[in-house]
Amino acid sequence: MTSPLIDKFNRQITYVRLSVTDRCDFRCVYCMSEKMTFMPRAQLLTLEELALIGRAFVELGVGKIRITGGEPLVRNNVLQLFESLGQLSGLKELVLTTNGSQLPRLAKPLRDAGVKRINISLDSLRPERFQRITRVGRLEQVLKGITAAKAAGFENIKLNAVILKHRNEDEIIDLVNFAIDQELDITFIEEMPLGAIGDHDRAEVYYSSDMIYRDLSNVFTLLPTVENTGGPSKYFRIPHVKTRIGFISPHSHNFCESCNRVRVTTEGRLLLCLGQEHSVDLKRVIRAHPSEIEPLKQAIIDAMAIKPKGHDFDLNRIQPVILRHMNVTGG
Ligand code: GTP
Ligand code: 5AD
Ligand code: SF4
Repeated sequence: MTSPLIDKFNRQITYVRLSVTDRCDFRCVYCMSEKMTFMPRAQLLTLEELALIGRAFVELGVGKIRITGGEPLVRNNVLQLFESLGQLSGLKELVLTTNGSQLPRLAKPLRDAGVKRINISLDSLRPERFQRITRVGRLEQVLKGITAAKAAGFENIKLNAVILKHRNEDEIIDLVNFAIDQELDITFIEEMPLGAIGDHDRAEVYYSSDMIYRDLSNVFTLLPTVENTGGPSKYFRIPHVKTRIGFISPHSHNFCESCNRVRVTTEGRLLLCLGQEHSVDLKRVIRAHPSEIEPLKQAIIDAMAIKPKGHDFDLNRIQPVILRHMNVTGG
C-alpha cells in the first residue's frame, strides 16, 4: 500500500515528535528566555487527546514517535501517555528526549511502558558551567539520571550537546571521553534561532559542525558511517569503542531534503517544519469531533500538501524570524 503521508517533495513521514508540555525545570540559554511565560494549562492537549493523535499517526503508517517538551517528564501523569502509546502494535519505536532530571524517578517505569531509546541533553560536565547554561539545572541531577537510565536497561542512550563559542566549545573532547567511558552515543547540535532568548548573539556564538569535527579529529580517528537513527544526525565511529559521534548541522549541512518528520506542539498545532510556521490546528479538529479518529486522520493527510521544502534559518538577523521558542516546538 502506498503511504498516505507523502508530501509534494516526495518525502514520506514516518517520524512524529509530540511535545507534551512547554514547561521545564531548566531554562537553557539557547532554548528559553530567562523569564518565560508558559501556556495556560487549559490550552494544552489532554493526555487522552495526545494519545489519540499518536494513534492516528500510527494508523497512517508512522513507525516512530518521540515524546519531547519542554521537559516531557515534568507533565503530571505523563506515564499514562507512554503506557497507551506503548500498546500501539504498529508503533516500532517509542522514544524520548529529556533533560534527564526526572530519570532517577521515572527511568524504570518508562522502560516498562515500552520506551525504546532515550536522548538526554548534556552540554557541560562542569557543575558551575552546567548551571550557567541551564540557568537553574544541577549537573549532579542529570548524571544521576544517566545512571538510572542505564540501570533501567536502556541501550543506545544518546547525549545531545548544543555547542556554543565562549560557553562550552572547549569541552567537546571531554564530552566525547565521557560518552566513551559511559558507552553512550553523543550528538553535537548547531544552535537554531527559535524565539528571542535574550542571552547571546546567535551569530557570534555559532560553532559549526565542521569546527567540532576539526577539534575532534585532532584527538580521535573519526570513521564515517551510513548508520541512521531516523533523525537528522550524521554519525561517525571511533575505532574500537561503542560510542557513535553524531552531528546535527541545520546551518552547515542542511538535511531538509531527506526530512521524514512532523511535530505536534503542546497546544495541538501540527507543525510541518521546525523552522517555518506552516501548520494545521489538530486541537480544533479533535474538539469538534471528540474521540473520533477519522477526522483527525483526514486532517493529517491533508496537511501533507503544505509541508514546506525546508527551513531558512538566518543567524545574522537580530530578531529571529520564528518567534516560537524551542520548548513550545518540541525540539
Ligand atoms: P534520534 O531518533 O536519536 O535520531 O533523535 P533526533 O535527533 O531525531 O531527536 P532529538 O530530540 O535528540 O533532537 C536532537 C536535535 O535535532 C534537536 O535540537 C532537534 O531540534 C533537532 N532536530 C530534530 N529534527 C529536526 C528537524 O527536522 N529540523 C531541524 N532543524 N532540527 C531537528
Ligand atoms: N537549537 C538547537 N538545539 C536546541 N535544543 C533546544 N533548543 C535548541 C536550539 N535553539 C536541543 C536541546 C535538546 C533537544 C531537544 O533540542 O538541547 O537536546
Ligand atoms: Fe528545558 Fe530542554 Fe529547553 Fe533546556 S533545552 S530549557 S532542558 S526544554
